[in-house]
Amino acid sequence: MFDQDLVNKIRAAFPRAVKDFTGRERAFFDNGTGTLVCERAAKAEAKARIDYSANIGANFDESQKAKETVKAGREAVAEFLNAPSGATIVSGESATKLLFDVSYAIGKECNGTENVVISELEHYANVSPWNELVRVGKIKEVRFARMNLEDGTLDFDHLQELIDSNTKVISVTAASNVTGTKIPLERVSSLAKEAKAYFIVDAVHHVPHGPIDVQKINCDFLVFSGYKIFGSHGSYMYMNPEYMENLKPYKVKPSAKSGPFKWESGTRNQAMFASIKGVLDHFLWLAEQIQSQYEGKFEENTGNRRAYKIAMNASQQYENLLSKAVLEGIDDVPGLLSIPDVKIFGITDTNRLDERDPTFAFIVDGVPNEDIIKHLWEKGGIATRAENFYSYAVEVYKQLKVNRISLVQYNTLEEVRIFLKTLNTICNK
Ligand SMILES: Cc1ncc(COP(=O)(O)O)c(C=O)c1O
Repeated sequence: MFDQDLVNKIRAAFPRAVKDFTGRERAFFDNGTGTLVCERAAKAEAKARIDYSANIGANFDESQKAKETVKAGREAVAEFLNAPSGATIVSGESATKLLFDVSYAIGKECNGTENVVISELEHYANVSPWNELVRVGKIKEVRFARMNLEDGTLDFDHLQELIDSNTKVISVTAASNVTGTKIPLERVSSLAKEAKAYFIVDAVHHVPHGPIDVQKINCDFLVFSGYKIFGSHGSYMYMNPEYMENLKPYKVKPSAKSGPFKWESGTRNQAMFASIKGVLDHFLWLAEQIQSQYEGKFEENTGNRRAYKIAMNASQQYENLLSKAVLEGIDDVPGLLSIPDVKIFGITDTNRLDERDPTFAFIVDGVPNEDIIKHLWEKGGIATRAENFYSYAVEVYKQLKVNRISLVQYNTLEEVRIFLKTLNTICNK
């Protein structure tokens, strides 16, 4: 758990945690759309851009360093995800693009009879690639496992019912980018393995909020994006090595015939790898600050892997504290649960916080979303937004847009208090 001193140190590690570039003090609650950058990541990215800006593959120092930067980035990501090696990590422009790439390659194996099972909690990055396979006749249909409307959780029994011998892929989000609800990945994985279907995880929303272990989840592919976890744009996908070799992505003839380079069209951006390594170094620093609290814990892992687990576990616990305050209130300021006319989409039971990330979508009866967002910014300095967030779940809830706040490790209870106080003033008019 973080104490106040550590929260202050974490905020100091993010140059814009307190004030924006204009000098305005504000609380950044738009993290689900893209987090603020941590200083280590920004500096590492700038260094790679300036000092190692040559392309890889030559004998001079800049090129050698660029190559080392890409390799070190892949290895750090692998350790963070508990993947077997850096050679199992593919990078891409975005998670959306990587999911399109995988769907394209899988589509080549299909004959128009197969189905793909996803859920109603998905971001469209994990919907459209599969719909596209239907459109071009590679698969027969995309099946959507229902979401329980009252708490935004997956209807697991329905997911199970949708799987049959023609299920080629099961692809789900680790957590909804709107309701924050997590999907029980290991349970879904067992079903996928039984059905001999590829199992894909979209971890884009969940990645800054808790430990991820691709071996424990037993997934074949898992994707996340650097800009959602304190780094730069650019995304990373763990791939089961067997499938990395056997599937046939788009590629130009002279490029590598195996390994991650086979999947990566064009040359790599070394600064992006430097950035993600900077982010992961931030977590190693964080783990050092709290390791005394974890004596005797997570001892199945050692070194950096254990440190990542400690850092992400502690973040999760701290974020649960923020979530509890969002829902129940803080000091004498009522929380979302007791503000009149607020409707929350997702889990609201504070005994179930481990089933959700600290992401809250809500509307207020009688107050347009635009007014809420404007009021929060102008009166409270709360930076957030209302959108559909490219989320299928927003459609299921029959909304065009919802207000969303999403919190991460640099947010504070005081910011939550200001948010609630400001929201209360517009709701109680
Ligand atoms: C759950 C989820 N998946 C995928 C994406 C798309 O990520 P990218 O912008 O890297 O394509 C997002 C972006 O908001 C997301 O929240």
